[in-house]
Amino acid sequence: MTSPNESAQRGSWSSRTGFILAASGSAIGLGNIWRFPYVVGEGGGAAFVLIYLGFVFLIGAAVMLGELALGRHTQRNPVGAFKATAPGTLWKLVGLTGVVTGVAILSFYGVIAGWTVGYFFKTVTGSFSQAITASESQEIFGGFVANPAASVGLLFLFLGVTAVIVWRGVSGGIERVSKVLMPALLALLVLLAIRSVTLSGAGAGLAFYLAPDFSKISAQTFPAALGQAFFSLSLGMGAMITYGSYVSKKVNLVSAVGIICFLDTAIALLAGLIIFPALFHVGLSPSSGVGLVFQVLPTLFAELPAGQLFGAAFFLLLAIAALTSTISLLEVPVSYVIDEWGWSRGKAVVATATVTFLIGVPSALASGAVSFLSDLPGAAPDFLSLMSIIFGNYSLTIGSLGLAIFVGYRWGVEAAAAEFQSEGVPAVFKPIWAFLIRFLAPVGIVGILVYIIATQNYF
Ligand code: TRP
Repeated sequence: MTSPNESAQRGSWSSRTGFILAASGSAIGLGNIWRFPYVVGEGGGAAFVLIYLGFVFLIGAAVMLGELALGRHTQRNPVGAFKATAPGTLWKLVGLTGVVTGVAILSFYGVIAGWTVGYFFKTVTGSFSQAITASESQEIFGGFVANPAASVGLLFLFLGVTAVIVWRGVSGGIERVSKVLMPALLALLVLLAIRSVTLSGAGAGLAFYLAPDFSKISAQTFPAALGQAFFSLSLGMGAMITYGSYVSKKVNLVSAVGIICFLDTAIALLAGLIIFPALFHVGLSPSSGVGLVFQVLPTLFAELPAGQLFGAAFFLLLAIAALTSTISLLEVPVSYVIDEWGWSRGKAVVATATVTFLIGVPSALASGAVSFLSDLPGAAPDFLSLMSIIFGNYSLTIGSLGLAIFVGYRWGVEAAAAEFQSEGVPAVFKPIWAFLIRFLAPVGIVGILVYIIATQNYF
C-alpha cells in the first residue's frame, strides 16, 4: 500500500498501522517510563496525574491533530511546512525553533537512553541478581552515571544506532523497528505492573499514585503537567509535522490521534503502576528525581523469580522505546536539511548526529563526572536537568503555542479541517476542535507562562 501521492524522493509510511505505530513509538519513550513517574513523584501524585490527563486530552490531542494536518497538507519538514502555508513571513521561525529544540532534546535524551543500555548490560552481567537495598541501589546508580567514559560512550553508541535507522529511511527503518517492538514493550509492562501491585506495601504507593490529594497541588503543578504532556506526546517541535508529512491522504487523522494519545497515556499510567508500589515497598522517596526508575526497579527485580531475566528484558525494551523516540527526534533536523538544503539523507544524518553528540557531551558529564556541570551555580540544577527544563519543557510549550495560534488563526481552521475531515469524523468534531486549538490551548499555555514569569518559579 504505497501512497499515491508519494514523490520519488520523499519517503512515506507503507500503511496506516505502520504510521500509527511509528508515531506512537515517537510518543512512547523515556518520557512515559522514566520522566512521567518522577514528575508525578515531585508533583505530589494523583492530583498531578488528573491535571496531566486533562492537558493531554484537551490541549495535547488538539495540538497533535494540528501538527499532523499541517505536515500532511504540506508534505514538508517543520520549516518547509510554515514556509508553504505562510510564504515570506516569520512563521518559519517557529519551525526552525522546533528543529533546534529537536537537536537539543536529543542531546540529553540520548544520555538517559544510554543509561538504559548500560543498565541492560549491568543486569545481564548479574549486578542485580542478589537482593539489594534501596541505598545500595542508589549508590550503584550514582557511581554508574558519574563515570564519564560510560556515559559519553553510551551516548555515542545510542546516537550511532539511531543514525543508522534514520539513514535507512521512513518505511524501511523507522516503521519496521516500531512495528515489532512496541507490542513487546506493552506486554512486559503489564507483567511487571501485576508483580508490582501485589508487593507488600503496594497499597501506600497506589494511594499516592491514584487517590488525589488536592492539597498537594501547587501553582508549579500546572506548568510541569503541561510540559510533561507536550514532551510525552512529542509535540511542540515539529516531530508530528514531520511524521504527518509521510502519511497517506487516505488515513483518518482524527482516529489516529485518538489512538496515539490513548496508547501514550496507557503506557505512562502503566509505568506509574510499576514504579509507585515498588517505590513504597523499598522505602524510597517519590521525589528522587531523574534517577527514580534506575534506583527503584533493580530492587524490584531482585525480588522476582527470574528477576534477572525480567530486569534485562525491561531495560532492553526501555532502550528500544527510547530508540523509537530518538529516531523521531533525529528525523526532524534530518528532514529539514534534506528538504531545505538539498543534502542527501546519508550526509544529513551524519552531520546532525555528530552535532547532537557534541552538544550532548556536557549532559553526559552532568551527573557527577564534572562537578561544575553537575551542580550549576545559582538556582539552576545540573546541566542535564537544565536542558530538560529549557528544551523539554519551555521550548515545547512555546512551540505548541506557536503551532496552535498558527493553525487556529493563520493557516486557519477551515484549511486544517479540510485535511482531517474524512469519512467517519462526526460534524460536531470540527467546532470542538476549533474551540480547543483557537481558545483553550493558547489561553491555557499563555496563562501558565505568565504565571511562571510572574512568580519567577522557573525550575
Ligand atoms: N515523546 C518522547 C517520550 O515520551 C520523546 C520525544 C520524541 C519527543 N520526539 C519528541 C519529545 C519530540 C518532544 C518532541 O519519550
